[in-house]
Amino acid sequence: MAETPTAPGSAEAPDRPLRAPALRTAIAGAGMIGRVHLDAVRRSGAPVAGISASTPARAAEAAAALGVARAFDSSEELVTSDDVDVVHICTPNDAHARLAALALRAGKHVVCEKPLTTSAATAAELAALAASSGKVAAVPFVYRYHPMAAEARARVRDGRAGTVRLLHGHYLQDWLALPGDTNWRVDPVAGGPSRAFADIGSHWCDLVEWVTGHRITELTALTQTVPRDAAPGSGSAPTSSTAALPATEDVVQLLFRTDGGATGALTVSQISPGRKNRLWFEVDGARTSLAFDQENPESLFVGSRGENTVPVRDPALLSPAAAGLSTVPGGHPMGYLDCFAAFVRDVHWAIRAADGGGAGEHDGGPAGPPTFDDAARMVRLTEAVLGSAADRSWKEVS
Ligand SMILES: NC(=O)c1ccc[n+]([C@@H]2O[C@H](COP(=O)([O-])OP(=O)(O)OC[C@H]3O[C@@H](n4cnc5c(N)ncnc54)[C@H](O)[C@@H]3O)[C@@H](O)[C@H]2O)c1
Repeated sequence: MAETPTAPGSAEAPDRPLRAPALRTAIAGAGMIGRVHLDAVRRSGAPVAGISASTPARAAEAAAALGVARAFDSSEELVTSDDVDVVHICTPNDAHARLAALALRAGKHVVCEKPLTTSAATAAELAALAASSGKVAAVPFVYRYHPMAAEARARVRDGRAGTVRLLHGHYLQDWLALPGDTNWRVDPVAGGPSRAFADIGSHWCDLVEWVTGHRITELTALTQTVPRDAAPGSGSAPTSSTAALPATEDVVQLLFRTDGGATGALTVSQISPGRKNRLWFEVDGARTSLAFDQENPESLFVGSRGENTVPVRDPALLSPAAAGLSTVPGGHPMGYLDCFAAFVRDVHWAIRAADGGGAGEHDGGPAGPPTFDDAARMVRLTEAVLGSAADRSWKEVS
């Protein structure tokens, strides 16, 4: 049944449409993360207008497998289509900048995967284009949407942690640990000049800066790239004649200072056997330490000189921002896919605000997704890391 509009000026007249128009969404790239975006968009209730892949045939296969109405022949066609309001760019890294610029110029809201670009100069241009477009331009630094990471942030902001003195942690994976392990990320054209830091170190830095409100202003880095056997799967140790050295770093060891007077240390690795996606950080404040492990995201370590505690994710006990991200009661584990769903809800909230339709009340969490400016900052940090490792110096980060 059609809704009966309320008379303008009456006491019950709404100041915005009862129902915001559906945000027709399309997804460029149907690999691992394209499918995660698809799931998150579907959970938001927005219609998925289409999908693209590396070839028209692969797009048709993906559309059929995923139940998406339309397969676009190219990502260029998808990001400029009149039938699309929001585009999600989930391709390998080297296509991000071109597709995001095309989409913004075509008047689309854009969600672009990290790293935003493979050079800081291009990232700055893209962030400027996004700012002048009036459109929402967001990057899924989704670990911000873990309720217990938001709880850590709330405890820094409300003073319970005390002055933040020390930041430390690691982000470890093992998908490149064995001889023969490879992926497009290892190719410096498709992946960019940094691999481990651009791919995962940027997530850690974004998250820790967001939790603390500090910015990394000065850093020195050591990179390591490990020779592997040229014969995939042989399992034998490389010799000088078989050793192949990837073009990009496997490991980054980082020391840094922040604008808030803290120091920090971070280890990033994609060759740590058994570590699948171990993003772990600790913020040591003057009163309490806060440690978060994204592989065990249902709790937070809170250390003090008195008693150490490990609060669990129970919306009734959390700060409002963290409780708002808790979409199921405590004891019903939440994780990575829920972060993505919360991120997409946040993007849609920001789009409604940008389009002037009235965003409505925010349901908790970051209240505004990570932006192209945030992502461009991470690309600058990445260049500083590579520059510091190359000339063994400290670098300032603007
Ligand atoms: N935010 C996160 O947590 C997160 C996690 C994983 C990956 N990512 C990012 O997502 C991007 C994709 O990573 P992935 O893990 O899904 O890789 P993937 O290899 O699983 O998928 C990439 C897909 O893109 C396709 N492709 C190549 N060129 C294309 C083009 N021009 N148009 C459309 N599709 C194209 C490939 O065929 C492949 O299927 C990367 O930039 C990566 O850094 C982000």
